[in-house]
Amino acid sequence: MGRRNLDPEDIVRFEEDGPKVVLLDQRRLPGEEVELECRTVDELVAAIRELAVRGAPAIGVAAAYGLALAAARGDDVDAAAAALAASRPTAVNLTWALAEMRDDLSPAHARRLHREEVERCRAMAAHAADLFGPGTRALTHCNAGGLATGGYGSAVGALRAAWERGVLDHVWVDETRPLLQGSRLTAWELEAVGIPHAVIVDSAAASLMAAGEVDCIVTGADRIAANGDTANKIGTYSLAVLASHHELPFYVVAPTSTIDLETPTGAEIPIEERSGAELTTRFAARNPAFDVTPAALITAIVTEQGVREPVAL
Ligand code: MRU
Repeated sequence: MGRRNLDPEDIVRFEEDGPKVVLLDQRRLPGEEVELECRTVDELVAAIRELAVRGAPAIGVAAAYGLALAAARGDDVDAAAAALAASRPTAVNLTWALAEMRDDLSPAHARRLHREEVERCRAMAAHAADLFGPGTRALTHCNAGGLATGGYGSAVGALRAAWERGVLDHVWVDETRPLLQGSRLTAWELEAVGIPHAVIVDSAAASLMAAGEVDCIVTGADRIAANGDTANKIGTYSLAVLASHHELPFYVVAPTSTIDLETPTGAEIPIEERSGAELTTRFAARNPAFDVTPAALITAIVTEQGVREPVAL
């Protein structure tokens, strides 16, 4: 059973005693709840690369704590920022958080960024829940829950808010190949808060939509370009195409820290290529970790500021 009270500091926190950044190791979930202590920036960079902490806003929060760690240790802060920024390329929250930290490297500042990110989640979840009609059966991909945001969640936050309002009936959870963020993490979080759900293989989404068993698709985002094109976990784009074909609304729920006005369109978003060994160690493999959903396929982008149709942000 997932934990009912997963507080933001259970997911990622800074401890002066050490000093260290402490993470709930998401690679071990749902089987084991184990903390990982990062006492150097290199250890934290490895933890981010290996997805011990993952999800765009949570990576940003971890990086903010990483800069506080570098400063507390007396490390070269510029080198630390460069290493953290290079750890994963697609989530813009990472560079956003590092930039936010530049003028104040204190743990208190990093904690404030963390707290504000969770507050943004709660606000956007309330806006997103307004879009749900009674009895909604939603489908989500990857994990955009508290684990991915440092608390409460973006897309999963929207599902939580809709559930609390009594308008959510059921959630289809894409298992999310190849690292199973859906079947390991989203299902664990939904179970913890008592939301009815079922894990499906990613390729089952189409037939469930055709059968009329899906009312809307709700995902998070790793980077939203200025024209509204949105990068998220590989497989999101195909869901958006399917949603369009079946005339279902496709909602993206993400904080404004995920919006990158410096990137004009999705074509300029860097897409992380991960090791083919995550798919197979025997054969050649290609493993893009994200894809881009064109703005035209997105019904609405929901941030803490409200609901927008993504014509241009
Ligand atoms: O590779 P991951 O697990 O970091 O990918 C995460 C996602 O794609 C999430 O959907 C995205 O970061 C939004 S999290 C609120």
